[in-house]
Amino acid sequence: MNVILGSQGEEINYAGRKFTLDGALLRNVGTITTTEQLVKRFDSLKVLRNVGTVTINSPESIMLARDKFASLLELAKNHVPIPETAMVEDPREAMTLTERWGEVVIKPLIGSLGLGSVKVSDPDIAYRVSKSILSVNQPVYVQKYVKKPDRDIRVFVVGDEVIGSIFRFSNGSWKTNVAQGAVAQMLTISSEIKEIGLKVVKAMKMDYAGIDVVEDTEDNSYKVLEVNASPLWHGFKTATGINPAKFIVKHLLEMIKK
Ligand SMILES: Nc1ncnc2c1ncn2[C@@H]1O[C@H](COP(=O)(O)OP(=O)(O)O)[C@@H](O)[C@H]1O
Ligand SMILES: [Mg+2]
Repeated sequence: MNVILGSQGEEINYAGRKFTLDGALLRNVGTITTTEQLVKRFDSLKVLRNVGTVTINSPESIMLARDKFASLLELAKNHVPIPETAMVEDPREAMTLTERWGEVVIKPLIGSLGLGSVKVSDPDIAYRVSKSILSVNQPVYVQKYVKKPDRDIRVFVVGDEVIGSIFRFSNGSWKTNVAQGAVAQMLTISSEIKEIGLKVVKAMKMDYAGIDVVEDTEDNSYKVLEVNASPLWHGFKTATGINPAKFIVKHLLEMIKK
């Protein structure tokens, strides 16, 4: 996809021809290897929207949701409950946080499927893990481990509607991703879950989202772990019989008609 900025204004070209669309469902920004590539793709998506294409989720909210720390900052600002979370550049700080919080999760700032997250309670291990991450110029994202039952909650929101929610029961792991072997079970949407789901998409200006919520057994509250702008829904669909694709396409068509 080529982006042209000329005397006629902005234009998207694809395979040598002008490219126009009424609407687009942006899956994600693809595999990224350099900052320049990321910037170029983000700029292209913004131009696609500027030339009149309704894009959901918006390029901005996709970028926001990719960055787990920025997402939680936005949620906290909007009074959505989140676990204590930090981004550190000094391994000694990761050590101190592990001592303070007792048990922490060190996870990739950008990532999914539960891959690469580690649960640590030994401050020395926290030090070693963070030092290795910093040695490859990656940020260290540390979160207090929330004591939860062997499950979490995935809330699916499209537009201003919570279309469904599921429990994801782990198979012995502390991670409850379906990709890590968790099993989905339908959960009736409570008013509290509904309120959290709607607050999250509003705060992050998203058209649809899969939100990960844990039940904190220490203070009997819900905490939002992360927000997915391109959620997988195989487990959700099997457990609930609800196909999110129908809701998302309906929402996109409504936005195009506006
Ligand atoms: N701070 C935490 N406390 C308790 N469990 C956590 C925490 N962080 C992650 N998990 C578990 O690991 C899973 C994956 O973490 P998540 O933040 O959703 O990242 P991913 O993008 O890999 O899904 C969560 O669904 C949850 O079961
Ligand atoms: Mg997740």
